[in-house]
Amino acid sequence: MTDTREELAPSASGVEAIESRTGGAGEAPPTLRRRPRRLRRTGAIRDMVRETRLRPQQFIYPLFATSGSNTQEEIDALPGQYRLSPDRLVEQAKRAWDLGIPAVLLFGHAEHKDEIGSEAADPRGITQQAVRALKSNLPDLVVMTDVCLCAYTTHGHCGLVDENGQVLNDPTLEVLAKVALSHAEAGADTVAPSDMMDGRVGAIRQALDAAGREDIGIMAYAAKYASAFYGPFREAVDSAPQFGDRRGYQMDPANCREAVREAKLDVEEGADIVMVKPALAYLDVIAAVRSAVDVPVAAYNVSGEYAMVAAAAERGWVEPRALTLEVLTSIARAGADMIITYHALEAAAWLKA
Ligand code: PBG
Repeated sequence: MTDTREELAPSASGVEAIESRTGGAGEAPPTLRRRPRRLRRTGAIRDMVRETRLRPQQFIYPLFATSGSNTQEEIDALPGQYRLSPDRLVEQAKRAWDLGIPAVLLFGHAEHKDEIGSEAADPRGITQQAVRALKSNLPDLVVMTDVCLCAYTTHGHCGLVDENGQVLNDPTLEVLAKVALSHAEAGADTVAPSDMMDGRVGAIRQALDAAGREDIGIMAYAAKYASAFYGPFREAVDSAPQFGDRRGYQMDPANCREAVREAKLDVEEGADIVMVKPALAYLDVIAAVRSAVDVPVAAYNVSGEYAMVAAAAERGWVEPRALTLEVLTSIARAGADMIITYHALEAAAWLKA
């Protein structure tokens, strides 16, 4: 707390005197009936009137699973984030859980990539192994899984690709539904499709229900932009597209109304949670989606956003704790009910301190 005694000393009487003046003589300060600074005067008052509160319960911690055991590889462009073998992943998830973070979002670092992303739906795949390890050790932890093909395909696109390099929409839906179902069978609580194919939420909902898994939730990457902020993530799971880009399926950063349309469509198709991604450069989109739907809204504070903070902090240019909490608070203030963030562990620890 930085408040000093001087700050707390009563100065209000002078202010009241000014308010009662009629002014005029030139020397008098203007009459100010409204003085917002009154509510900023002490830490206790500021605490009382704070509109947005961050809690670890709002955080979802992204984790990268890799095969093997006792393996921990730091991701170059994401300092402090690792690719972890299932055993080490459990330890890391336990740290998050003990700090009050209720959920993790899992990504797999595929061992075998092919044209059609076969490992993505394989019960022995890396994501499925990691889900089983997490659920058998931390049964109450909410395990969410990213459902996409880009980390499992040789071409690095999020769907099936034809001979002309076109990403095929409808044939991909069936594959995504299989991937989601395999995650559910492994024990995932929530599946999170991030591919941006049209109709995938409906297709996944239908497949889950047909298999008797009405209990599994869907968090849709509803408004996912074709963003330059995903660079470090693509290094983490080697998922950069080998030709072209993702602008034919991910959204144009210039659009906001379209995000609302996407979110509403996903809710209609059965999404339990809709997500906006990235977060920091898209606060207006978070606010628009929040006011347009009645399901919880998540925002993804993505890899590039984290990397920028980490890089500036490393150079001593910014104060990481204050900057990080400001970033996360802003995302919550914009309307995000949950925040997926690589800062989750440190932020939860800071909030507890
Ligand atoms: C997979 C996926 C991506 C991210 C989450 N799921 C990358 C992409 O679409 O290229 C990005 C997450 C991040 O940058 O932190 N489709």
